[in-house]
Order: sequence, then structure tokens, then C-alpha cells
Amino acid sequence: MAEFLEDISDCPKCNLCKSRSRVVLGAGNEHAEIIFVGEAPGVQEDKQGIPFVGPAGQFLDQLLKSIELDRADVYITNTVKCRPPDNRDPEADEIAACNPYLKKQLRMIEPRIICTLGNYATKTILKTSSGISQLHGKLIRQGELAYVPLFHPAAALHKPPLRNVLIEDFERLQQHLDAEKVRWKTILDEPPESLSALEPEGQAEQMGLF
Ligand code: URA
Ligand code: SF4
Repeated sequence: MAEFLEDISDCPKCNLCKSRSRVVLGAGNEHAEIIFVGEAPGVQEDKQGIPFVGPAGQFLDQLLKSIELDRADVYITNTVKCRPPDNRDPEADEIAACNPYLKKQLRMIEPRIICTLGNYATKTILKTSSGISQLHGKLIRQGELAYVPLFHPAAALHKPPLRNVLIEDFERLQQHLDAEKVRWKTILDEPPESLSALEPEGQAEQMGLF
């Protein structure tokens, strides 16, 4: 990941390159089972080169602690890697320009659960038009991967009632994680002879597998 950051540290692919001090790629465990994807670096992140180190990040740290995790256990990144001027929202062309980097990170880390923080990350990653108000706290499985959309911690700093919603959603996230661990174990423990590809042909045909 350090090499990857070096490769993109002069990235000129969108307008955000003009206002950033540095590219903020991500931080945490590069083999994490859970990855959190926020929106964009803010002023503190742009200064320090680390995601979620400002007020929203402090709340995220508390939320992680509430389910016995800390930054070193998870990986944290953003939908766009450079700070938008005056903290404006990232634009569609900027999100599209930066998306290959996020995809590359996901391929490198191979997380089991992807938590999207807020609408931008949720819509970009899940390619959904449903908003975060409908999806928050739900486990959405796609193949072996699972997604859990969550409100952005910064939203709770502006709208205090969302604070408790996030605290409850993190409790649900912990339950989802426990359930996923059982599911991964089942997938990994499955004896090879039980795989459908090795079943007698007739039976497999009967089950409509081919
Ligand atoms: N908000 C984000 O979405 N990302 C950060 O890194 C900090 C605040
Ligand atoms: Fe490049 Fe992404 Fe930064 Fe745009 S936001 S300049 S695409 S690294």
C-alpha cells in the first residue's frame, strides 16, 4: 500500500489535485476483515495524510471501541483521496476518476465486510439509488462479500439524534460480523467432497446445477 501511495501521490486525474496538500490513501490493517469507506479527506486529514483524524474520526474511534475494535484492527479510507476545497461534496466526475483506486484497495485488502459511511460511499460502492436512511445498519450480501451501510459519523455531529442511531448500528455491525464469521467458517470447513462439482453427474443434473 505504501508503494501504491507513492505511485499516486502526484495524481492529476481530477480537479481535487489542485487544492489538496497530499493524497490521503488510507490507514490501518492491510489484511483487515472490515474496511470503512468515508467520503473525502477534511482539513486535518489533508494536513496529516491520515483519514478520519478530525472530529468525525474521533467519533468513529469511539464507535469502534464500543464493539471492541480499534483502528489497528480495521482499514479506513475514503471514496475520493483528496480534500475538496472548503469541504464541499465530491462531484460525480471526481468520484468516477478516483474509483479505480478504491477498487484496487479492495482487491489488495480483500475484506469480508465493507462498511460504507454516508451516502457517497454507499451509492458509489453498492451502485444503488437507495439512500443511507433506508439502508443503514443492514447487512447486504453479494457472493462471499457483505456490505453494511452506516450513517457518516460527521452527520451525527451535526444532527445529534443520529448519534444513537450510529451507536445502535455498530451493535448490529458486531452481530453481523459474528454471523459472517460463522458463515466463513462453514464455507472454509466444507469438505471438498461435498462440493456440488464433485457430486455424481446425475444428481447434479437433477439439481439443475449444469
Ligand atoms: N470525513 C470523511 O469522510 N473522511 C475523512 O477522512 C474525514 C472526515
Ligand atoms: Fe487523483 Fe483521486 Fe485525488 Fe482526484 S481525488 S486527484 S482521482 S487521487
